[in-house]
Amino acid sequence: MSRTAATADPGSTAAAAAAFLKQADRYTGRTASPARLAEIRAEIAERDSYRQSTTELEVGAKLAWRNHARCVGKLYYRTLVVRDRRDLTAAEDVFRELVEHQRLAFNGGRIRPVLTVFAPAGPGSPGVRIWNEQVLQYAGYRRPDGSTVGDPANIRFTEVVTRMGWTGNGGRFDVLPLVIQVPDAAPQLFELPPDLVVRIPIAHPDLPWFADLGLEWYAFPTMSNRRLEIGGLRYPAAPFSGWYVNTEIGARNLADTDRYDMLPTVADALRLDRTHDRTLWKDRALLEINAAVLASYERAGVRMVDHHTISDSFARFVEAERRAGRDVCADWRWIVPPMSPAATPVYHQTYLETTETPNFFREPTTPYVTGCPALREVA
Ligand code: ARG
Repeated sequence: MSRTAATADPGSTAAAAAAFLKQADRYTGRTASPARLAEIRAEIAERDSYRQSTTELEVGAKLAWRNHARCVGKLYYRTLVVRDRRDLTAAEDVFRELVEHQRLAFNGGRIRPVLTVFAPAGPGSPGVRIWNEQVLQYAGYRRPDGSTVGDPANIRFTEVVTRMGWTGNGGRFDVLPLVIQVPDAAPQLFELPPDLVVRIPIAHPDLPWFADLGLEWYAFPTMSNRRLEIGGLRYPAAPFSGWYVNTEIGARNLADTDRYDMLPTVADALRLDRTHDRTLWKDRALLEINAAVLASYERAGVRMVDHHTISDSFARFVEAERRAGRDVCADWRWIVPPMSPAATPVYHQTYLETTETPNFFREPTTPYVTGCPALREVA
């Protein structure tokens, strides 16, 4: 694995720490920063990095959520459960904690926002990495004739884990294994225990044939390859979970032409005329898929929010932030739902697009390109 110097120059780490401590003070209503900053500066002088306290980590993770421009669910950022697992060094232990994370977040269907922090990158160490974009996702396969089975978004990742020894069933909803990599060790594959793979079969409340389409989705997402940055420190593995908005599944994952591409199938089952766009067959199919997704999660007792309610909550978040004298950084394209956009209040607002830290960032490279020479060829 390549060893990158994880902290930038000590001066900028200290400056980032100072900026973060000020924000943290504002959040907690305390004024801890001057004394703490002196401590941090001394530690940086000694070893080019510093260790954050569990409280700093917790506040930092909440602020990262609040700052994240692409999340419409931010009203709830204060409720985030933060688990400090920075001291784990073995892949098996990271896996065990991911399993526990999934259990806590699922919470019997009453999904809770949970984030688990693993070892940071530091001088000479890349930290812990989870290769998967999400803890639970479906495999994608390309058939020899060029057609695809499963989730086309994960074809490349499926090829990578297949090279590493995993064998998929070639099905539409095969759960991918986890790839966990700790410093100085080869990446390792793990399978989630079956009781934590909660599948929600998608059925429609009024259209009996819908269930025969054989669609399903998993209960909730856990993003696992975003880097959490707090006060100049980088945590490459800080998986976080939240509950779903129906449109993520019904208007994107199952509907996008480069994902499960279900609009034509559903439109045909609805006996809609697909020879012209103006019959609005796509819109009608979208509406029924989303009605089915909402009803199915409800029936399964799994928390999900509809795109109107979450948009309203975001508008309230914006109001509250403005009252608190803060600007809201948000990416309009991601905040506005992919269905009935102008019927929600968020469509009619404009947002600042700056990026504040703490925040979550996409890793510039995937570890299976840079991290493991044996796998470079498949990436
Ligand atoms: N859009 C992603 C998906 O469909 C999940 C992103 C996070 N979403 C959330 N509700 N926390 O899997």
